[in-house]
Amino acid sequence: MKSSLIAAVIAASSIATFAGIVAAKDEAAKDALPPGSVSHAEGLEAWKRIEAVVTHPRCANCHVDAKAIPIWTPAGETKPRVHGMNIHGGESRIGAEAIRCSTCHMTSTQANDPAPEPPRAGIDWQLAPVDFIWFGKSGAEICAQLKDPKRNGGRDAVGLLNHLRHDASLSGFIPRGWEPGAGRTTPPGTFEDHVKDMALWGAAGQPCPN
Ligand code: HEC
Ligand code: HEC
Repeated sequence: MKSSLIAAVIAASSIATFAGIVAAKDEAAKDALPPGSVSHAEGLEAWKRIEAVVTHPRCANCHVDAKAIPIWTPAGETKPRVHGMNIHGGESRIGAEAIRCSTCHMTSTQANDPAPEPPRAGIDWQLAPVDFIWFGKSGAEICAQLKDPKRNGGRDAVGLLNHLRHDASLSGFIPRGWEPGAGRTTPPGTFEDHVKDMALWGAAGQPCPN
């Protein structure tokens, strides 16, 4: 009785997750612009705005290299420094080897508390995969990497839009970059502006600065 109830609950929640993914994909399909409908110059303009977002501490602090040390830019500071308390993401990128990130960064869809409380998200807090390094890279390097399916999780331009919508449907890390908790700076524009810029950049053929 009990186990079949649990099974039914698990089945229902995986259907809900699946429905969420389908809804996010539908939305991303609406965001996408016809390939070639945006000029190279407009695409480069959009990239400049994207670059300002992805190099911002709210994004880059998690997109770090294989040393797996998350970065802090505490409220009132502009210079990045390594995460306090000797925190290490490990190979797992979730801190499983030492202290899990989610010990302090709660998995919750509730709004972030003001700095210096640890930010949270609707998915388990973790570093981005090693391939997706942004911290310390130039805009041109990030651009080349972000459009390379071998280094971006196998995503084409629409796949990147899917990722933004899917992450938002889970109250994930990306929309929360613009709602990081009072006292923390936010990337320029809004989450919706960022989606539009990614659509423009994609339709222009993902041009990169030299
Ligand atoms: C808490 C850490 C964290 C923060 C903060 C974060 N990300 Fe990520 N990011 C991840 C993880 C983990 C993945 C891998 C998810 C996947 O591939 O399904 C990822 C993947 C991505 C991807 C997929 C493709 C690629 O090449 O990276 C994009 C795009 C992205 N993040 C954008 C952003 C943006 C924009 C921000 C800031 C507004 C941001 N992220 C902030 C952890 C983070
Ligand atoms: C012992 C508690 C604790 C653990 C464990 C922890 N963090 Fe943090 N983290 C914090 C606190 C507190 C802050 C906020 C610091 C501030 O803003 O002054 C923070 C902030 C951050 C930031 C900066 C967010 C931003 O927007 O600038 C990142 C990135 C981060 N943590 C990643 C991680 C990752 C990845 C892990 C796991 C490998 C982890 N943290 C484990 C307490 C913790």
